[in-house]
Amino acid sequence: MERKDMLKKNKSLENTTALVTGGAGFIGSHLTRALVKKGYRVKVLDNISRNVNCVQDLRTDEAIKFVKGDICDLPLLLQTMKGIDYVFHQASVCLRRCNAFPKEAIEVILNGSHNVFYAAVHEKVKKVIYASTSSVYGEPEYLPIDEKHPTNPATPYGATKLCVDHFAQFMAHKSGLKFVCLRYFNVYGANQSTDAYYTSVVNVFIKRVLARTPPIIEGSGGQSLISLMSQMWFVPILWHWRVTQRTRFSMLDTVRDVRLRLSLS
Ligand SMILES: NC(=O)c1ccc[n+]([C@@H]2O[C@H](COP(=O)([O-])OP(=O)(O)OC[C@H]3O[C@@H](n4cnc5c(N)ncnc54)[C@H](O)[C@@H]3O)[C@@H](O)[C@H]2O)c1
Repeated sequence: MERKDMLKKNKSLENTTALVTGGAGFIGSHLTRALVKKGYRVKVLDNISRNVNCVQDLRTDEAIKFVKGDICDLPLLLQTMKGIDYVFHQASVCLRRCNAFPKEAIEVILNGSHNVFYAAVHEKVKKVIYASTSSVYGEPEYLPIDEKHPTNPATPYGATKLCVDHFAQFMAHKSGLKFVCLRYFNVYGANQSTDAYYTSVVNVFIKRVLARTPPIIEGSGGQSLISLMSQMWFVPILWHWRVTQRTRFSMLDTVRDVRLRLSLS
């Protein structure tokens, strides 16, 4: 559906604005397209440190303003956030890079996220929807992991993300920040960079299925960890729901899904 048709259908979104930090990334770019489809006016703020290949359409779409910049740059963030209703904060250093350069985790995840929250309060943003991670839980003590599961992050990535979860709470109490924190598990889908740490297992499945060799699953295949990138997946992000996913999606389900999507039996 064209944006103007969408707006006719949903008048209330006509002047709704969203900022997607990390909007050139895997999840951020899907999210940006989904927001535009819903009728939002979207700004993307991304330093283009990853994934530049598949976002050309975002740069030319008139409903999107593309700002090349860094969340560590507070004056730029304050400027970019003017007039924004909702911030979808996705910009981050990935887990593997944080292991190699822990200081980047502190600089980008901690300091950058603090900037995002600070600017959001300053510019009276209605809500920040922040991408946290299942890495805050560390090694699972039981499955499926729920929100009551103890948090024992075992990496600089998980530790800084957890710190940001708590920091958002602090800023909510102190300064009235409105936020929801979504702890994504393993997400995979179209346009994902193939070196993505989280999904290496899925990428290996895809490569093997395309090569018509059987995917190798360790154990029974019943282990659950994977979330699927689909239209449905975005519903909680778009509507800022705090959800606990109760449906288990196993390794075997993942292989079946990969085969189905590649139209192989
Ligand atoms: N993909 C997953 O399975 C998964 C799982 C759990 C949590 N997450 C979280 O979801 C969010 C999105 O993940 P993704 O898979 O799309 O990652 P991604 O690496 O594809 O996208 C991140 C984007 O952030 C940008 N970026 C990095 N540092 C920046 C900075 N300092 N300033 C501005 N932009 C910057 C990068 O250029 C990139 O476009 C991240 O916060 C990630 O931690 C992802």
